[in-house]
Amino acid sequence: EWSVSSFIEEQVAAIRERVGDGRVLCALSGGVDSSVAAALVHRAVGDRLTCVFVNHGLLRQGEAEQVQKTFGQALQVNLVYVDASERFLAKLAGVTDPEEKRKIIGHEFIRVFEEEARKLGKVDFLVQGTLYPDVIESGTETAAVIKSHHNVGGLPEDMELELIEPLRLLFKDEVRRVGEELGLPEEIVWRQPFPGPGLAIRILGEVTPEKLAILRQADAIVTEEIRRAGLYREIWQSFAVLPSMKSVGVMGDERTYAYPIVVRAVTSDDAMTADWARLPYELLERISSRIVNEVRHVNRVVYDITSKPPATIEWE
Ligand code: XMP
Repeated sequence: EWSVSSFIEEQVAAIRERVGDGRVLCALSGGVDSSVAAALVHRAVGDRLTCVFVNHGLLRQGEAEQVQKTFGQALQVNLVYVDASERFLAKLAGVTDPEEKRKIIGHEFIRVFEEEARKLGKVDFLVQGTLYPDVIESGTETAAVIKSHHNVGGLPEDMELELIEPLRLLFKDEVRRVGEELGLPEEIVWRQPFPGPGLAIRILGEVTPEKLAILRQADAIVTEEIRRAGLYREIWQSFAVLPSMKSVGVMGDERTYAYPIVVRAVTSDDAMTADWARLPYELLERISSRIVNEVRHVNRVVYDITSKPPATIEWE
């Protein structure tokens, strides 16, 4: 029987021994894997670890604050927080193709991360939140392609960093237990998967500050209501999508012409296939009325009832 506390003890000892008086770098995304890996390495080497968190401006409401609060304040990790929002948005201006958006974001992410890493001077190790399923997947070529496509970020090639991958023999549920034992908050440990390119691939077509603000607000309502209904953990992913089209509505005596919001919620085991979640009508009703009442420029809410395949989980 696998024990969380002895796993932590063993890893802490092994990491300490390996790092010695070297220095360690970590790219924090706010996701479960990188957060647990960072917290574990921090327990082992404390101030020898520096975490870099790049805010690309495509995060959800409160996400950047959550990471700063947890790692910077509660855990007292050396945290470099980089607000690169404007830089990413400038690069994305006028771009509508989904793969083009992904490429730009991935490329820019590596550049920002490298710039920050260089400012730190000599670093010897890089922490990565690789899990056992990632290790198996990378065994085949197709899987490796899928993986590199799905993970924003990468290794600065000329930096010659040695990898520390303390979670590489664990499955997701074990990683969550380790995270809980290390004192990470519920919001991080139980977070649903979130794509590296963030909200950029949930705004169909061009990403603008105005659309980001609308989507963020709508998405926060979806998440809040799903949580309140007690369904957040059993649903694989639940979120809002903003298509770049407008439809006619009516408010008071006025005709409106505004955006719809698509609500997407799916159940899945591994994201390879997914089924649309049979959310209770009352929950859909609350989400819908809150979004049209609280979010400006939105006059309609629709629910995506397509499974994967043939649809994908994301809209781009
Ligand atoms: P799809 O939309 O292909 O998504 O059914 C499957 C899973 O992958 C996530 N996803 C991404 N993750 N970068 C990522 O890091 C990406 O470009 C990306 N595209 C999709 C998606 O959220 C789902 O969990």
